[in-house]
Amino acid sequence: MEVIGMEWNQNGLLPLEWFSNMRKSSPVEKAGDNAWNVFRYEDVKAVFTNYEVFSSQGAPSSEDPIESSLLRQDPPKHRQLRRLVSHAFTPRMIESLAPKIEEITKSLLDEAEKKGQMDIVADLASPLPIVVIAEMLGVSLEYRERFKAWSDALVGDNYEAYIQCQREMSEYFSAIAEDRRRHPQDDLITKLVEARIDNESLTELEIIGFCILLLVAGNETTTNLISSAVLAIDSLPEVRAELLADRSLIPGALEEVFRYFSPVQVMFRRVKQETELGGRKLRENEHVYIWMASANHDEAVFERPDVFNIHRSPNPHLGLGSGIHYCLGSQLARMESRIAIEALLERFPEYRRDRSAPLTRMDSTMMFALKELPVILR
Ligand code: HEM
Repeated sequence: MEVIGMEWNQNGLLPLEWFSNMRKSSPVEKAGDNAWNVFRYEDVKAVFTNYEVFSSQGAPSSEDPIESSLLRQDPPKHRQLRRLVSHAFTPRMIESLAPKIEEITKSLLDEAEKKGQMDIVADLASPLPIVVIAEMLGVSLEYRERFKAWSDALVGDNYEAYIQCQREMSEYFSAIAEDRRRHPQDDLITKLVEARIDNESLTELEIIGFCILLLVAGNETTTNLISSAVLAIDSLPEVRAELLADRSLIPGALEEVFRYFSPVQVMFRRVKQETELGGRKLRENEHVYIWMASANHDEAVFERPDVFNIHRSPNPHLGLGSGIHYCLGSQLARMESRIAIEALLERFPEYRRDRSAPLTRMDSTMMFALKELPVILR
């Protein structure tokens, strides 16, 4: 067990003190005129699991196909869409991607070795999930750079860039869907265009929405998990020594990264019917921001929550959500990050963070994302 690397908090990277104060003084508090922030574990979990009161549905919008994706649906539509795409995420399908992920990781580390240095974010954690999702969807790698720019814009705080990127992505995936209708292939987009629910095809918007969802949901999140893990191991020599001595501890360490750093810091819901939460009255159509990053440090659930403890068991973090929308790609994310960390530790067991570069976060409220993480390899 090891105490947290103070450098994370001295840099104000994680607003742990704010969360802690809010959990104590104002666990469900107003966030503007018609929205609430929710900070305690118990309340965050209640919102996630009570979909009859807290809806995932936003306003349907032709500008934003994600609004048509399963992430933003309630039952029964959610159940139908989820069943349809789940077959791409069975344990067998995920396992079958392992050799490809190992190969990509190896080639990214080969490139880094040639250069003698690497930025973990740009050279490993960011390209790896993009290549994996491109592979699943069956789209060309020529678009790798474009995918990266798109997924950055989708989770960033710049609204114009967000809308612009929605348009570009819609055109792009629409053209691919059209192509797969005429030339079916063995990929997920072909399965989506061929799928039927009650004898009806998915709409164009639903197909595009799902492709975009995968790109957003699977990219930045996994990038951030891997980068945060690399940072944590660097800051905590005892953790590094333990992982080097016994790699079977890596999955547990990654669960603690989900908890401690919360790659997705906050999700939102809309109140469907008047209700009470944490002693406050929430009205219909108000928005609720559920801070998993705070819930994951709630002392009511986690003993000594600010200690990074790779042996925490159980570790019921909410980093992947809870309830019917629980992350569909959770096993893929776990496998990708396990392979990346195993390979990095095996190849460069003594890697060190280049401390001349400042630790800074990307401009995103929703994600915990490091802008860069340069390391010295040997
Ligand atoms: C849903 C986090 C990786 C696909 C979610 C949710 C969270 C989450 C918190 C629940 C959202 C809600 O309740 O509104 C993460 C994190 C990841 C990760 C932290 C990595 C570190 C992935 C990957 C994929 C993926 C790799 C796929 C390639 C999805 C999908 C949903 C989802 C499709 C929607 C499920 C539904 O609405 O039923 N994810 N995710 N995620 N995630 Fe992930």
